[in-house]
Amino acid sequence: MYDVPPQGGRRAVVTGASGGLGLELARRLAGAGAEVVLAVRSLERGARAADLIRAENPDARLEVRALDLADLASVRAFAEALLEAGRPVHVLANNAGVMRPRRRAETVDGLELQFATNVAGHYALTARLAPLLTATGGARVGWMSSSAAHVGRLDFDDLQATRRYRPLRAYAQSKLADLVLALWLAERAEASGADLVSAAAHPGYVRTNLFSNGASVGRGRPRRSVLESRWLPHQEVDWGAEPLLVALTSPEGGNGAYYGPAGPWGLVGPATLVRPPRRATREGLGDRLVEALAGLTGVELAL
Ligand SMILES: NC(=O)c1ccc[n+]([C@@H]2O[C@H](COP(=O)([O-])OP(=O)(O)OC[C@H]3O[C@@H](n4cnc5c(N)ncnc54)[C@H](OP(=O)(O)O)[C@@H]3O)[C@@H](O)[C@H]2O)c1
Repeated sequence: MYDVPPQGGRRAVVTGASGGLGLELARRLAGAGAEVVLAVRSLERGARAADLIRAENPDARLEVRALDLADLASVRAFAEALLEAGRPVHVLANNAGVMRPRRRAETVDGLELQFATNVAGHYALTARLAPLLTATGGARVGWMSSSAAHVGRLDFDDLQATRRYRPLRAYAQSKLADLVLALWLAERAEASGADLVSAAAHPGYVRTNLFSNGASVGRGRPRRSVLESRWLPHQEVDWGAEPLLVALTSPEGGNGAYYGPAGPWGLVGPATLVRPPRRATREGLGDRLVEALAGLTGVELAL
């Protein structure tokens, strides 16, 4: 199991820390001494998550703050509060996500829900926090992608799937976009000389609420997802969180690194460096995505 290096004096923001991999990320970062901001859309679920961490680690330094990534006004309010407080942010874990609502759902900003939550919200959050991250020195941004990125395609003619919505396709697009953003930001940081590391990870296959939550969007009751397989190799959140933990904390973790499980089909096993799919590294793709996101969110990611 990966031992998170001492994080005393460091402050981390973890999106989607109310459950699943995000809660595990927050637990492990707090366990290593980081002060952790649990950025959650439900303060109630966030408080419960903080209680779970404190039950095991009474000294954990935690703060629960409201952040709905599917609402750009909420992202702005969250970021502005951190900027106004002016305290450093050393670690930003762009982890929260939603997967495969069966029908196309649209946010208050008119964006498709998976694109909004997984991509636009995290882009806007990172862009707004960029001045704080770069002023901090040695800050790291980690983006949670997925092996679904291997089958993703950025459809610039219809990023919001208004013409045709296919749930898995929209999810794969969003996770490819997360990886492209991680690589783009790494390149920008190097080119501008900003003291910032951007890296990405995927957790393999972890049977969290991701599958049923997405399938239940817009439905009155919880639904099972066909992607919840008992037969595929899967791992628990402790192992699943490791690739992103390594990206965020390992001394070897460099700009543009991508981590995932080393075991069969990349579904399970200890974290290792993995090769991003070629579709994520195409020349000019990051610039094009960032330009589109700046237009959709009204925020420039400038370093
Ligand atoms: N599990 C896997 O096998 C797997 C595989 C590949 C990639 N991933 C990625 O790993 C990340 C974490 O997923 P998970 O498996 O831990 O799923 P999860 O248990 O469903 O957790 C998702 C988290 O995201 C939060 N979230 C959803 N919509 C949000 C919004 N609009 N604003 C703020 N937070 C929001 C959820 O909050 P609530 O508590 O409010 O619902 C929850 O805390 C996702 O990015 C996912 O795509 C997971």
